[in-house]
Amino acid sequence: MSLRLLVVMDPPETVLVDADTSFALMEEAQARGHRVDHCLITDLFATADPATGERRAGARIRRASMFRDPALAPITLGAPERVWLDEVDAVLMRKDPPFDANYLWATQVLELARGKTLLVNDPRGLRDANEKLYALHFPAQMPATLVSSDKDDIKAFLHAHGGKVVLKPLSGAGGDGVFLLRGDDLNVNAIIETVTQVGRRMAMVQEFLPDVVRGDKRVLLLDGEPLGGILRVPRKDDVRSNIHVGGTVEKAPLDEHDLRIVRALRDKLREDGLVFVGLDVIGGRLTEVNVTSPTGIQQMSRLDGVNLSAKVIDWIEARARR
Ligand SMILES: Nc1ncnc2c1ncn2[C@@H]1O[C@H](COP(=O)(O)OP(=O)(O)O)[C@@H](O)[C@H]1O
Ligand SMILES: [Mg+2]
Repeated sequence: MSLRLLVVMDPPETVLVDADTSFALMEEAQARGHRVDHCLITDLFATADPATGERRAGARIRRASMFRDPALAPITLGAPERVWLDEVDAVLMRKDPPFDANYLWATQVLELARGKTLLVNDPRGLRDANEKLYALHFPAQMPATLVSSDKDDIKAFLHAHGGKVVLKPLSGAGGDGVFLLRGDDLNVNAIIETVTQVGRRMAMVQEFLPDVVRGDKRVLLLDGEPLGGILRVPRKDDVRSNIHVGGTVEKAPLDEHDLRIVRALRDKLREDGLVFVGLDVIGGRLTEVNVTSPTGIQQMSRLDGVNLSAKVIDWIEARARR
């Protein structure tokens, strides 16, 4: 049974062959004989036809071919074609942040295909879940946290939490714009103004978790069940563990804290259709729930000696429309 999968993502030139999770999923689907199509969020479209009373979502796609040969581009695309989303068996929404107006509209176009194809992750879940704010549904699992655009409130939080906190933009990813704030630093006002755009944007300020030096654990979940974990260890000269800014990856089996967090999130994630999700856990505390394009599957598969992409494609095969 061969399926047709559409992956909505960034341009293929952005793909790192050894690190990209979308690539690994596409490669696995191709290895099983499925057809894999690629499109950008701006390639989605929708129509309304008063004659039939029907609306339909579609995409300008190009068929993707995946190659692991370092001499070749990881993904090459075929000629442009148009397809209705109800003609594909599954849509994998894997566009990287930022969550901007185009992203929002893409989720609303995908919404029109609900019930007509398998949508991973659910566009409604993607819309509802800001990656930083979603964790607030599980306060018992988090470090102490404040979300605010108010400088005085952020400074009061800093002083109430040992004069050492982490300040991060709600729209960030890959460690972008994440600052360690210290109470005695004369840059504190300027940093808060920068991150909040002088009080015009909310930001998240969080108790500093000293365990971050040992690493930020990425726990990948499939339909609420853990696939595995990897530890991202920050460089000696940075607080940010993200691979994107030089964090290194270590093997990290899940411990009792990770499993406690997974159990706390499982039902809500399922309710929200957030099938493929990456939790960030520092010192047994949940700091972020990555839903847009969580990554780590290649490093995790290598370190654990298992093909985790196969588990994701198994799941999709079992639920795809045909
Ligand atoms: N509360 C915290 N205490 C210590 N370090 C933190 C904390 N929150 C974030 N960090 C560091 O900053 C990095 C990025 O933060 P995160 O919330 O995961 O945002 P994103 O990955 O979306 O940029 C983390 O990997 C970690 O190294
Ligand atoms: Mg993160």
